[in-house]
Amino acid sequence: MQLVKALLSQLLACVCVLGLRAAFPSISVWQFVVIQAGLAALFSRGFRQPYWWLPIHFLFLPAILLGLTWQIPAWLYLLVLLLLTLLFWGTVKGDVPLFLSSSAVSGALIEIVSREGAQSVIDIGAGLATVVVPLAKARPDVAIAALERAPLPWLLAAWRCRNLANVRVGRSSFWDQDLRQFDVVFAFLSPPVMAKIGEKIRREMRVGCLFVSSSFPLPNSEAESVLELNDRRKTKLYYYRID
Ligand SMILES: C[S@@+](CC[C@H](N)C(=O)[O-])C[C@H]1O[C@@H](n2cnc3c(N)ncnc32)[C@H](O)[C@@H]1O
Repeated sequence: MQLVKALLSQLLACVCVLGLRAAFPSISVWQFVVIQAGLAALFSRGFRQPYWWLPIHFLFLPAILLGLTWQIPAWLYLLVLLLLTLLFWGTVKGDVPLFLSSSAVSGALIEIVSREGAQSVIDIGAGLATVVVPLAKARPDVAIAALERAPLPWLLAAWRCRNLANVRVGRSSFWDQDLRQFDVVFAFLSPPVMAKIGEKIRREMRVGCLFVSSSFPLPNSEAESVLELNDRRKTKLYYYRID
């Protein structure tokens, strides 16, 4: 659905710009490209696409025009498309995109895992194992699972964790993972999935265990506590006790 909205945004912006070009033939190609990029971003917001689509819409046509100007070989487009697909995987369908947590987040997670006396932890959507690696190094006695669905981040996460005996990196969806066995579940996902995640953790996690959500709260749930970190994004960690 997101892909259809993105294509529609680009197409509508192109149609508007072609109309403008007929009315103002003296405006340069680059000026039209900039207007098209701005309009595409506006249409994208009109279609309620998530904010992270904005830079894609801003850059799409200018990047193509630059590529044509510099006569970039066709295989390079294919390579970039392949890399982006392997990196972001289901993101075009509206899945959670790849953003990385700061070291302050992993520091806070190490602290809470120790305070909880947790023996098993999972990062559902581990990205490049940015949180998992420092946690595994600080707490080699804790069994850690890292799930990542996108092929390239999974490969990099598996490589980074290759010497960490207490980490298992899985290339599967967290929707297929039973969370019953984990004392602490960590997630840094996105707002559209939080309601469904809330249902999943309440259904599967054991009473007394802790769900930690970075940046995005669970709708209709009261967090036990909220920690604001002193990193660049002023990340908030929401702690939910399962009752
Ligand atoms: C915002 S990133 C967080 C990365 C890492 N946990 C961190 O805090 O730095 C979310 C990750 O979840 C992954 N993801 C999205 N949907 C998933 C799913 N259903 N199962 C497993 N991973 C998923 C994405 O590919 C992305 O790498």
